[in-house]
Amino acid sequence: MHRRKIVVAYSGGLDTSVMVKWLSENYDADIITVTGVLGPTAELDGIEEKALKTGAKTVHIVDLQEKFVSNFAFKTLKASALYEGVYPMATAIGRPLLVKLLIDIALAEGADTIAHGCTGKGNDQVRFEVGIQTLAPQLNILAPLRFWEFKSREEEIDYAMKHNIHVKVTRKSPYSIDENLWGTAVECGILEDPTNCPPEDAYQITVNPRTAPLEPEIVTILFDKGIPVKLNGYNYTAAEIVKELNLLGGKHGIGRIDLIENRVVGIKSREIYEAPAAVILHKAHYELEKLVLDKETFRFKQNVSNQIANLIYDGLWYSPLFDALMTFVDRTQDTVSGEIFIELYKGNINVLSRISPYSLYDKELATYAAGDTFDHKAAEGFLKLYGLPFKTLNIVRNSIYKEVKE
Ligand code: ARG
Repeated sequence: MHRRKIVVAYSGGLDTSVMVKWLSENYDADIITVTGVLGPTAELDGIEEKALKTGAKTVHIVDLQEKFVSNFAFKTLKASALYEGVYPMATAIGRPLLVKLLIDIALAEGADTIAHGCTGKGNDQVRFEVGIQTLAPQLNILAPLRFWEFKSREEEIDYAMKHNIHVKVTRKSPYSIDENLWGTAVECGILEDPTNCPPEDAYQITVNPRTAPLEPEIVTILFDKGIPVKLNGYNYTAAEIVKELNLLGGKHGIGRIDLIENRVVGIKSREIYEAPAAVILHKAHYELEKLVLDKETFRFKQNVSNQIANLIYDGLWYSPLFDALMTFVDRTQDTVSGEIFIELYKGNINVLSRISPYSLYDKELATYAAGDTFDHKAAEGFLKLYGLPFKTLNIVRNSIYKEVKE
């Protein structure tokens, strides 16, 4: 008889480290840890030894950075998808990619169960479990954090210390941090009280705009069909562009977001995000769309963006509606090519210039100076008809009100 195998989504953070130990003590199974690398994080240091020391039989560490940015982050960028208008969804878009990796390894290793370290009140359990059910319904799902004996992060920290598991969090600074190339999410501790202003130590990758350099920094971003391909005139890979903009933006205090958000499970929570590259790229991409998309497509896409953001946040990346809406988005990106010049300065992104071969801006139509080709006289007839429904309405209502009054 083969021993049962459990694949564990392992980040090396507090929850999943404690979980590997706990699973090895409570289940008669081989523990296989799977770590998808979505960005450089401190938790990756020595992660293989740590997993083995904690009780893992087999360790998989897979670098997914380029795939993550190209197939997940840049998709949301094209879609202009920002949850509740501001959150670029770094965590939310990482989950579907990790789901795919976990399933691939579970099937290759002959495991029958995937375990994750999400709590019972977060969004990530939804993203993991809906994803797994959609792509591999034959696999079992195990979520120990929903039923194990630890009642708080403090108790987990105590258990970790007792078992010599090294974790970055301390009882004094108990932040829960999730980070990847598209952004950082920080919650817990003092942040749980929304009346508290975030202390400086809550921020991991950005400086306070007040202490940012006095000199602005100019950056140019070239897009090809909605995808950033060049930075300051140089070709970079997708992940390189994001890494570079995180550094530049972080240095200028860009991308800090303090959000009270509506979770899938019905509660409101408070999270601090830092996403310099995502915020810069969204701003530049939006600027380009304003130049090249026709009015109706531009307006319609705003609704689609919102719907896509909700689907991603709610864990429905692998769904027919998401696919269909992304097909619409891709079609809109055919002409989203051009270059945006911006300036980074003390937490602000100022657009300096925009240029595109597909620009729909016609200076001769827009100008108020000599050379204006706009037909001003045509406006008279246009307004007679455009205002006609309201004129009619007003006449009808006035006569009704008069009758009522008399
Ligand atoms: N609230 C964010 C989301 O649902 C991030 C969740 C993870 N946050 C964290 N600090 N571990 O996408």
